[in-house]
Amino acid sequence: MPVYQQQGSIPSKRHVVYRKKDGSLYHEELFGTEGFSGTSSLVYHLYPPTMVKETRKPYSARPDIVIEDNLKALSFQSFNVQAENDYLSSRKILFVNDDMSIGVAAPMKSMKEYFFKNADSDELLFIHKGSGALKTMYGTVDFEYGDYVLIPRGTVYQLQFNSIENRILLIESHSPVRTPKRYRNEFGQLLEHSPFCERDFKFPKNLETHDEQGEFEIRIKKRGLIYSYIYASHPFDVVGWDGYSYPYAFSIFNFEPLTGRIHMPPPIHQHFEGRNFVICSFVPRLYDYHPNAIPAPYHHSNIDSDELLYYVDGDFMSRNDIQQGQITLHPAGIPHGPHPGAIERSIGKKETQELAVMIDPFNPVKITREALQIEVKDYYKSWLAQPQHV
Ligand SMILES: [Fe+2]
Repeated sequence: MPVYQQQGSIPSKRHVVYRKKDGSLYHEELFGTEGFSGTSSLVYHLYPPTMVKETRKPYSARPDIVIEDNLKALSFQSFNVQAENDYLSSRKILFVNDDMSIGVAAPMKSMKEYFFKNADSDELLFIHKGSGALKTMYGTVDFEYGDYVLIPRGTVYQLQFNSIENRILLIESHSPVRTPKRYRNEFGQLLEHSPFCERDFKFPKNLETHDEQGEFEIRIKKRGLIYSYIYASHPFDVVGWDGYSYPYAFSIFNFEPLTGRIHMPPPIHQHFEGRNFVICSFVPRLYDYHPNAIPAPYHHSNIDSDELLYYVDGDFMSRNDIQQGQITLHPAGIPHGPHPGAIERSIGKKETQELAVMIDPFNPVKITREALQIEVKDYYKSWLAQPQHV
């Protein structure tokens, strides 16, 4: 995240003596996700972040892939995934490739017994239902409906929920998730034509320093296995930090849509990207205003990218019979386009209330067993109906 942030107390210069009131040293840690060349933060702990008491046997959270190769339009009802008490057990991965995994989670209970750290991936949690707080050593990021919560890989965290009804779209990226380069200047500042700016981000607040020793379990995900590590000090024992690497949130409702006289292509909806994928938001907006404009998208042949759409709310103009939480996958290799009647239906419409998240993985995704359990059968045949002239 290319915006400098600082919380708590830090020494006036990096890598120098910094003592507590009792004369002992604070413990400095450099936290970055790309060696010494990417963005990073310097963090000051009460205790060394290395005091491991015990490690336990790992268990597998690797997805069960049942379709390696797919050339069929598929759809899934993610709200049919059963809610579960535990956050980690509730996470169901539906699609994977070498760059990312995509899944959903419906956790009912806040994390109390353990902390979690994903050492494999940046996590982007889109909050579809529920609200709460992301607790980290950098402070707290509050979240609510419509927030994308971005957690850099390696960040130890706990999620606290305000109710038992929570629905999360989960994206794990093996590379850092960033804003598109075309919206930033050479200094990293978001430009005037960007559909969002730095003020739209929710940064960590209210740094709490936990001076606690005992047994603290961190479940660490590494190469798809989850290890249980017992540490001797609380992971949120930080008195201060500064830098460019930390979790933050961005609300889909702060994305200011770009509109035009005729249909604008999907990249205008983009706000995040990682290695070999982009993430876009379709938000309520005025439709194209040329007198003969067709607001529905034209058919397009995405020969080099899968396209995943997650439907959040409102009527989605190009699809018939779409439910909240429904996912469509249009694979690279075959064209796709509006459902029968959708093009005619869109002509003359002035605005849309649609709300959806689009993920375009440039490498084909594999389908997991969890996904097939919530598949909408025969979705690929749903363009056969005769157009309705409304
Ligand atoms: Fe598309």
